[in-house]
Amino acid sequence: MLSNKKVATFKNSALKVCETNLHKKRGTLMLEKFVLAYSGGLDTSVLIKYLQEKYNAQVITVTVDVGQQEDIAAAEEKAKKLGVTKHYSIDAKEEFAKDYIFPAIKANALYEGKYPISTALSRPLIAKKMVEIAEKEGATGLVHGCTGRGNDQVRFDITLGSLAPGKQIIAPVREWGLTREEEIAYAKTKGIHVSEAAKKYSIDASVWGRAIECGLLEDANNAPPDDAYEWTVAPEKAPDKPETITIQFEAGVPVAVNGKEMAPLDLIMEVNKIAGRNGVGRIDHIEDRIVGLKSREVYECPAAVVILEAHKDLEKMVMTRHEVLFKQQVDAQWVFLAYAGLWVDPLKDDLDAFINRSQENVTGEVTLKLYKGSLQVVGRQSPMSLYDKNLANYNIKTSFNQAYSKGFIELWGLQTRMYNSLKKAGEKPKTNKP
Ligand code: ARG
Repeated sequence: MLSNKKVATFKNSALKVCETNLHKKRGTLMLEKFVLAYSGGLDTSVLIKYLQEKYNAQVITVTVDVGQQEDIAAAEEKAKKLGVTKHYSIDAKEEFAKDYIFPAIKANALYEGKYPISTALSRPLIAKKMVEIAEKEGATGLVHGCTGRGNDQVRFDITLGSLAPGKQIIAPVREWGLTREEEIAYAKTKGIHVSEAAKKYSIDASVWGRAIECGLLEDANNAPPDDAYEWTVAPEKAPDKPETITIQFEAGVPVAVNGKEMAPLDLIMEVNKIAGRNGVGRIDHIEDRIVGLKSREVYECPAAVVILEAHKDLEKMVMTRHEVLFKQQVDAQWVFLAYAGLWVDPLKDDLDAFINRSQENVTGEVTLKLYKGSLQVVGRQSPMSLYDKNLANYNIKTSFNQAYSKGFIELWGLQTRMYNSLKKAGEKPKTNKP
């Protein structure tokens, strides 16, 4: 139940949205300040100029470092050159690792079984930072550079709209309908530097992985050219000797690599390096976007692929069968919400509560072998293990009483046997169908 005060605030903010829209329709609204999520890339650089010219707005840019391994200082310099009123560079790498990637590890988050949601996870954090700056600066508009075809628009719009009801959300790229070539041409007329990479691919990265889109990759049947990848070597060029890596977990999250304790961010970067040099972490799949489109997606997520594989394996050692099977359903729902822009939906918090409780015993270590692009779990151990080699042993007498199995099977298969004997006797089995 919402309290009266909350209802009043809610009504007020709903009202504000209506008013804003009205004013906008009449063309009388002069938005004072806009906060723009700025990556330094093509779309958002063009946006600075566009907002200044078309909206006559003061543009405040925010670049959030989520470990994309791009030059944040260069982005700041570029923004200033383009005449922004103010620029914020925010180092959110630790927060991203601890509060966004770690929950994803606990949830074994792989969208459609393949994609570690490296882009999706960063969006709610960037949105949160935008709102913080907008409140500090008294900005009325929140701007992002997402297109109308992708997932990111959904993530930004929903998170921004939830965290800052009443502020206007503006997505010019969705409206202006420029092709990428037209955008590049526009950028040139405005003196915006366009990198060679930007001409070829559209790239988005966080410390959890790198997404590569556009260009040659749009033909789903074209193998990704080698220059699409930066964090992983081509498997055929990886060392001829396998490398093993041991990851220690405590209560569901990684705490050490090869016996060395590390803070969340350092640990992920270290695994990125180790897996990347062995060509592990390349992903190429057909993905269902939120807006219904199918797209061909290419990623390199070396640390994610290794850590998720290890975590899943350890869970199976310490959880009961009932927990393992039920959690697979919870995990699927969790990754769907996180992918589909619903990070701030209460259902995600509900699932987090379950997942966090489920992780209490997920402590132990997993060893994996990395070799020329492949990875394989080769060992695991845990003080909380439910696997007992003495119980499962075929060669020695154990406390597992095999005689009990006969009775167990008798009851376990009771209904199955009944059904089949009825069928055999030619009687129609009862079904729910009319
Ligand atoms: N398909 C992925 C997602 O929606 C990656 C998007 C990457 N964006 C980009 N501009 N390359 O999470």
